[in-house]
Amino acid sequence: MGFNVFVTREIPQAGLDIVYANCDPVEMNPDDQVLSREALLAGVRGRDGVLCLLTDRIDDEVFAAAGPQCKVFANYAVGFNNVDLDAATKHGKLVTNTPGVLTDATADHTWTLLMATARRISEADAYMRTGAWGGWGPMQFLGGDVTGRTLGIIGAGRIGTAVAQRSAGFDMKVLYHDQRRNEELERKLGAMQVSKEELLAESDFVSLHVDLNESTRHLISTAELKRMKPTAYLINTSRGPVIDETALVQALQENQIAGAGLDVFEDEPKAKDGLFACKNTVLVPHIASATHWTRSQMAILAANNLVAALKGEKPPNLVNPDVWAG
Ligand code: DGY
Repeated sequence: MGFNVFVTREIPQAGLDIVYANCDPVEMNPDDQVLSREALLAGVRGRDGVLCLLTDRIDDEVFAAAGPQCKVFANYAVGFNNVDLDAATKHGKLVTNTPGVLTDATADHTWTLLMATARRISEADAYMRTGAWGGWGPMQFLGGDVTGRTLGIIGAGRIGTAVAQRSAGFDMKVLYHDQRRNEELERKLGAMQVSKEELLAESDFVSLHVDLNESTRHLISTAELKRMKPTAYLINTSRGPVIDETALVQALQENQIAGAGLDVFEDEPKAKDGLFACKNTVLVPHIASATHWTRSQMAILAANNLVAALKGEKPPNLVNPDVWAG
């Protein structure tokens, strides 16, 4: 074998079994926490391959520290905004991700957030636990309707499409905004491709499903929030920096929109000042893919990508194919 590998944090056993069966030595971060920058730089040094996470910043310095013999950085996530792809390509490192296996879990979770936000589930649950409830009341915890309302999907790729498809049971009108036409959504749901401005103005629920890159950073900021209906909800299971979180806090405080369901945050693991005090939110710690099956499948994909690259085969989920061609 002889493949010298570093795993930046424990992942499900199904993936580790593949790594241990094919590589030796394998070193894994022994602590269930994000590595410090120093520990990451030291950990990658001299390895043939690295299995890394979305919480690791993988950039020029890391590639240089790993050394020229290192072939691959297998990211345990579908998103790879944590990896500087230009630097990877410059250093000749293959970079891989874990697409597909988390589509359903993420779409299910988006709906969990959407429903919970509209029906004020976190707020009502917290109230119930105070023991203060005096019985049913006609004006208690009134929220927004879902059935028959308009769902706006920004980013109609794999996950955006899966989220939209789930709206059929709620008899919703679907709008989407994407550079590409999504004929499947149009055919199956009668979805309409519209401008971002129109989507924001017309939707009762705006759900974000774009990659994070320079063109999508702060895609939703003050002007966009002002376009939304005061009765509308914003749902984000993509990446935190897609929303200007400071602008969102202000919009929530001023009831410019009805609420927000957030799985991801601009400066994870922190939330911007004031967000926790906004009652019209449901906030969860980046858990959209967190089901037992999904996380195991992600681990298997990441491990298979790592091992394939180490064996000189083209990894199934290569995100910088130029390196392979080159
Ligand atoms: C991803 O894979 O990009 C998710 O954010 C975490 O599973």
